[in-house]
Amino acid sequence: MQQFILALDQGTTSSRAILFDKKGQVVAEAQKEFKQIFPKPGWVEHDPLEIWSTQAGVAAEATVKAGRNGKSIAAIGITNQRETVVVWNRKTGKPVYNAIVWQDRRTAEYCDQLREEGQEELIRRKTGLLLDAYFSASKVRWILENVKGARKQAEAGKLAFGTVDSWLIWNFTQGELHVTDVTNASRTMLFNIHTLEWDEELLALFDVPRSMLPDVRQSSEVYGETKTTVFASKIPIAGIAGDQQAALFGQQCVRSGMVKSTYGTGCFMLMNIGTEARLSQNQLLTTVAWKINGQVQYALEGSIFIAGAVVQWLRDNLGLIKTSAEVEQLARQVSSSEGVYFVPAFAGLGAPYWDPYARGVIFGMSRATQAAHIARAALEAIAYQTMDVLKAMQADANLPIAELRVDGGATSNETLMQFLADVLNTNVIRPRMAETTALGAAYLAGLAVGYWKNLEEIQALPHAEKQFSPKLQPAQVQAGIANWHRAVQALQVWSKA
Ligand code: G3P
Repeated sequence: MQQFILALDQGTTSSRAILFDKKGQVVAEAQKEFKQIFPKPGWVEHDPLEIWSTQAGVAAEATVKAGRNGKSIAAIGITNQRETVVVWNRKTGKPVYNAIVWQDRRTAEYCDQLREEGQEELIRRKTGLLLDAYFSASKVRWILENVKGARKQAEAGKLAFGTVDSWLIWNFTQGELHVTDVTNASRTMLFNIHTLEWDEELLALFDVPRSMLPDVRQSSEVYGETKTTVFASKIPIAGIAGDQQAALFGQQCVRSGMVKSTYGTGCFMLMNIGTEARLSQNQLLTTVAWKINGQVQYALEGSIFIAGAVVQWLRDNLGLIKTSAEVEQLARQVSSSEGVYFVPAFAGLGAPYWDPYARGVIFGMSRATQAAHIARAALEAIAYQTMDVLKAMQADANLPIAELRVDGGATSNETLMQFLADVLNTNVIRPRMAETTALGAAYLAGLAVGYWKNLEEIQALPHAEKQFSPKLQPAQVQAGIANWHRAVQALQVWSKA
């Protein structure tokens, strides 16, 4: 019987299951969206039971589809939205509160308070992270402080905390396993990325009892077997990674200096920096890329909050286009933005600026400005933001960057990809497999069970689909880059006023 690997990709807006074969090609897939809960402005929650039921549902659906083709599962790899927090009762398996999602800002003031107390440097040194409500620690603390009886139960060892990977594995094994991997742990702000252990000082700072935490394992190893009736037989769970790290692996960025950029709502750029956890001097995060065969690799990460979302905004808020894909056609109606610069800081500015109070702005409009110029400026902004993060990475890593590997929805936009290559003055590589996040999780699981023998076997698989090479001379994009920076600076003056 032919075998395949089942990758479960539990994302922010949907749960997906994809089956891959030995060539890294998709055999079957299933996807289900789930509810986004916004109890107050700036708060974002998910129902953990719905996360579980949608993920189990699509896993079963995809497996049945493949079963009809006479195939079976060699292993499961799990990848997930990172930082999102679930706290549940160990005995009943019931969550004590909704999952608090990575986008949730309810603990921002608490983080400001920690900053005032001078805790930022300690946190950064140990975790590689910037002090921000984005990460898990302040969210776990919020649950313990605000859910009736939670702190008492946690102190009595009755509660478990996990990122979404832990929550899913707990359910797939009916409470037998409470584990996570180093990549997910590295996003909690409770994990020391140098010692690769939960950090007692940080646990004390955030007031999180040690007994709540999962065991931290490698990203590729057999953790245990499924016990649920979701599958007809027991299947080894053999890979775990946060989704951006999984995409880095799926893009085969396995050597220092290799960079990937994933374009979804936002954009997450990660650069492999090898075996040493170097801290950024340019406002980037240092994070664990993966641990395989006892070897840990690290990455620098820059998050851009608004990338694909600016296209959605043109569609849903301005009605300039009917579908996201139409943005390319609209932007191509003009050969330049003619002096229009769009900084889409709808949710503040992420890396490398980190200005939570910035908001979107369009500069340079005249009576001649048309929808096409705005569309073009919006696409150019995605490229300029990528360039800012890449420059910061280059400065930090002191490594030559030969190419940028891209994935995600926006990469089908060839006008954007070409502009990206021109602005970066670097080759931009689009992979043949768009699902690099799930593929990365499949590779991690497949390596652990010998489905793929080693990294070399994976690297021998065809990767690139298309390369976009710079067509413009650096001098031709210089003025645009300078104007972009003037626009960002002007916005920051405004946001600080
Ligand atoms: O850090 C958040 C990131 O992991 C979310 O990714 O693809 O679910 O939006 P995604």
